[in-house]
Formats: sequence, C-alpha cells, structure tokens
Amino acid sequence: MVKILDGKALAEDILEQLKKQILRFERPPELHIILVGEESASQIYVQQKLKASQRIGVSAQLHSLPSSIAQNEVISLIQQLNATSTVDGIIVQLPLPHHIDPRVIIEAIDPKKDVDGFHPMNLGKLVRNEPDFIPATPLGILELFRAYEIETQGKHCVVLGRSMLVGMPISILMASKNSPGNCTVTICHSYTPNIDVYLKQADIVIVAIGKPRFIHGSMLKEHCVVVDVGIHKISNGEGKSSVCGDVIWESIQEVAAFATPVPGGVGPLTVAMLLTNTVQAYALNAFRTSLDWM
Ligand code: GUN
Repeated sequence: MVKILDGKALAEDILEQLKKQILRFERPPELHIILVGEESASQIYVQQKLKASQRIGVSAQLHSLPSSIAQNEVISLIQQLNATSTVDGIIVQLPLPHHIDPRVIIEAIDPKKDVDGFHPMNLGKLVRNEPDFIPATPLGILELFRAYEIETQGKHCVVLGRSMLVGMPISILMASKNSPGNCTVTICHSYTPNIDVYLKQADIVIVAIGKPRFIHGSMLKEHCVVVDVGIHKISNGEGKSSVCGDVIWESIQEVAAFATPVPGGVGPLTVAMLLTNTVQAYALNAFRTSLDWM
C-alpha cells in the first residue's frame, strides 16, 4: 500500500518555521508579485501566495496589470522595484500574454531579487551546483525527499516534462552531486517514443507533463516513488468538478511505495518554498545593507 508524501503538512511546518524566523527580523520581508491579465488559474495561485505571505508576516504587494499592457511598461515597473532597497523579492506570475516575452521579463529582474529562481544567472548557478535561488516547485520536491528520508543516491529518476519551471531544473538537481540527488536521470518529453520503457525502469518518477490522469500504475515499476506535479480541474459532466493530477491516483495504490496526492502534495510546497526563498532574499539584502556604511 502506498505511503502518502504529505506536502500540505510539510508546507505547514515550513511556514510555521518561517513565521518564527521573521519575528526576529527588523522589518517584514517584502515580496512584489506582478500579475498581468486575468487568467483564472494564475489568479488562484497568486491569491494563495498572498494569503500565505500574510499568515507568516511577509509583506506581499500585488501589482495587477491589464493584459493589454506593453512589455516596456512591465519592464519599467521591474526596474523601479529593482532600484528600491526595501524590495527583497520580485516575481512575475507566468504565463504572460502572447505579446510579452517571458524571457525578456525574467531577465529584467535583479538576480538577487529573483525569488522564483528563473533568471539565467540563477539557472546557470544551479547547473554549476552553486545555487542562490532554486525554483520553488523543484525545491519543494527536494524538501519532500529530505523530510521523508527517501534515498535518491544511485537511483534511476525519470522526469516527465522539460519545462523551465519544473522538468529541467528538477532533472539537474536530481543528477547533481548532492543529497537529495546523485540519481541517474532520464528526461522524457513529447518526442520520447515508448515512455513506458523508461517508466518501468524508474525508481523515482517525477511527472510534470500537464496532462490529466495520463500515468497509470501499470506503467510503473513496483515500489517506486511517484511525485505528481500536475493539477487539473476536471468536470464530471453533471455540473460538478474535481481536482486531479497527471497520475491516476487509484491505479498506483498497490504499485508505488510513496506518492504525492493531488491536491495536498507538491502544490502547497511551491508556495512555502517561494516564501523560503523570499526570507533568504531578505537575509541577503539585510546583510548587504549592513555592509553599506563600511
Ligand atoms: N506559474 C506557474 N508556476 C509558477 C511559479 O512557480 N512562478 C511563477 N512566477 N509563475 C508560475
């Protein structure tokens, strides 16, 4: 029978620890969230980030911009926030409207304030195994492995998906000379033929393909560890809806040794790790400021 990797409980613990840490700070850490347009999923994620921030004493400020805004105006706002010394963290909620290039926007953020860890400088440092900010979802997955003492060294980890947000960074982290880490990693994506062949050899499976109920337990190796990053709202056709992941939860009960549920798995950890990065950015900022008078 599968053991649940309870991301919600772990996220609660992390948020409580952050709250205690923040009580000792001279001022609240300041996080600025830029939201362009009105995509409903993005609005929900941003609300979750604002609520958790408020709960632990992070001062989170939302900049809600119309979807018609010009790219240059978003960049001007970022430059203004970069130049404000009390701003510790800046994130731009993705996806952005089609006329705005996310790469240009992310590059405009000061890497020291890039608490999403998406800036090329931060992704480059992660590849060099000297990260400043690790993207929140991959960092949450590492925290789960740490908290549940899941052995990763020498294991075969199959990552489904190669996005900048999850698939690519978690693949690098799982292969890195770290604990958790030291895995042999296979990345599968939309051009991989016969993903079943790889899944059957996987001790650890990280699924981030964004397809509801795509992975069935019969595709997996006995006693594997399953991390499901997907989150989807599906309608049952009778006006009701439910939330599911990329994995068919019922089908893995007798196959997997450990698995993250959806909801309550990776999702809450993403928020907790964003705030962990924000607290880290505050501490680095406070340290730099303390050196200014010298
Ligand atoms: N959209 C989906 N996940 C994320 C995230 O972690 N950060 C940002 N900025 N946008 C997202």
